[in-house]
Amino acid sequence: MKDLLAIRGLTSETIESILDRAAYYKTSLDNGNKCFDKLKGKLVITLFYENSTRTRASFESAAKYLGAEVVNISVASSSVQKGETLIDTALTLDAMKADVIVVRHSLAGTADAMAGCVKAHVINGGDGLHAHPTQALLDAFTIKEKFGYTKGLKAAIIGDIKHSRVARSNIYLMRTLGIDVNVYGPATLMPKGIEQLPCNVCSSMEEAVKDCNVVMTLRIQAERMKGGLLPALGEYSKAFGINRAVLAGAADDVMVMHPGPVNRGVELAYDVLDTDICYKDRQVTSGLAVRMALLDMLAGGEL
Ligand code: CP
Repeated sequence: MKDLLAIRGLTSETIESILDRAAYYKTSLDNGNKCFDKLKGKLVITLFYENSTRTRASFESAAKYLGAEVVNISVASSSVQKGETLIDTALTLDAMKADVIVVRHSLAGTADAMAGCVKAHVINGGDGLHAHPTQALLDAFTIKEKFGYTKGLKAAIIGDIKHSRVARSNIYLMRTLGIDVNVYGPATLMPKGIEQLPCNVCSSMEEAVKDCNVVMTLRIQAERMKGGLLPALGEYSKAFGINRAVLAGAADDVMVMHPGPVNRGVELAYDVLDTDICYKDRQVTSGLAVRMALLDMLAGGEL
């Protein structure tokens, strides 16, 4: 495997091997060890055409902890602003002998297009509405770290499914690992063809979260909406926000997840945020370990 572009198509064996390697790095990080030399002499370039805090910073940290050199391209101050195309930008980075390029873009298919024309390994850091594979992997890692297993667990993904590459990647990954997935959200934020994805489309919050071990809520992606898809945020929060009352029907051991960034009090109520059942910050730490594992395995030819 040269690139990581999506979850769809990955086998459970490949996913488990990434999670196993991530567990090794997570234990090391928890013990305060951040110094490795697996990527010594390698160059990792991040190229983000969309804003990011978690994905970009954790790829940069992961690469540095593994001993790599890291270059972050800020699109706002790059030659993209002079009209350089995506492919010419990719070829330029390849000519600098980049070993890994991490790319995020608002258009679906960008990482695939780039992977097809460079020698470097390409990792998709999120492309439009299509995929966010490292987010789904870090979510799976967080779930497995809590429960010790995945097969037979029940999960609900709630909210703006239509605009969520996180939802799409998680639906495929959870099903591959044997997790039963419910989805629920406003009718205007459900994508056409959702029935063809390997998930159960629910018609009420009660039905969606019933007996679930994992309740994942998604950020309202105002930047991808053309308008008119939502009532006021307060109305959304009443109908689709996750709070303690909603979770009464979930399993006793429920964990609440959110990919971040959170609109506080909208997707997650204050009686859930910043409590022990909310895993959003632990997801971020998982992301570091998972991205270390991926960089190590891709650059080392182990995937
Ligand atoms: N979850 C996620 O992708 O966050 P960022 O947009 O901050 O990278």
